[in-house]
Amino acid sequence: MERNGRADKIKFMIGIFDSGIGGLTVVKEVLKTLPDYQILYLGDTARLPYGNRSQALIYKFTVQAVDYLFKQGCQLVIIACNTASSEALRKIQQEWLPKNYPDRRVLGVIRPVVEEAAKVSRFGRVGVIGTRGTISSESYIKELKNQKQDVIVSQAACPLLVPIVEEGMQNRRETKMILRNYLRPLKLKKVDTLIMGCTHYPILQKKIKSIMGKSCNVLDTSAIVAESLKDYLNRHTEIESKLVKGKEHRYIVTDSTDRFKENAQNWLGQKIKLEKIDLE
Ligand code: DGL
Repeated sequence: MERNGRADKIKFMIGIFDSGIGGLTVVKEVLKTLPDYQILYLGDTARLPYGNRSQALIYKFTVQAVDYLFKQGCQLVIIACNTASSEALRKIQQEWLPKNYPDRRVLGVIRPVVEEAAKVSRFGRVGVIGTRGTISSESYIKELKNQKQDVIVSQAACPLLVPIVEEGMQNRRETKMILRNYLRPLKLKKVDTLIMGCTHYPILQKKIKSIMGKSCNVLDTSAIVAESLKDYLNRHTEIESKLVKGKEHRYIVTDSTDRFKENAQNWLGQKIKLEKIDLE
């Protein structure tokens, strides 16, 4: 588009990417906080989950997704997936973007959540839960230490939680037992703030809060990301001015099944049409 010298006149969308449809928890908050902007959502449902995959593969998939969203006319892409933000964002921002799309932007979810955690943590004891990929990358630990050197971070990988949410098992008794098991070490470390570092966890927020108790802040990561996007657009008028306003949001997936559609509608709280594309 820029090659024709018409970039100034073309209006662009906000792209939101996730490994699946869990990122709709972020879309829901973005639509509440920034209701005027047009969203293009991409969920890589064919290759979900990313959480147990290697860094190299997560990077490859994420680049394909971001490239697709840019080609569809996004100016700014939010990587809503914590695993992709942990394993691919830095390399995309530092190497791929300057070479391929120097005037576009890619933002992740880790930085805004960490900034909030550093702000609200009373005793500097922060817990992080996420997929195996997110936890083993230590991306939250690194960012938290950048914000607050003396912070004590305790992490727990919770690989069963994504399939539990995908299967709609959030209200089952077994789920509470599994959650208690995952959260016990963090409770023993007396974390005062807990980061739910995964797109799917807001669906379990009530249960997680009740297990962690009143003395622990459980951060609603989707809402924090939406607020931080609003703040970003206020500060970057050169990007904001290029964004198209409207309500014709589109929801694209790489594999479509009735279950994806049902979950997508439940998590977003409205009826939507899922369009299917091929990223390979
Ligand atoms: N979207 C992923 C995340 O936020 C969870 C699902 C997956 O493992 O791909 O980490």
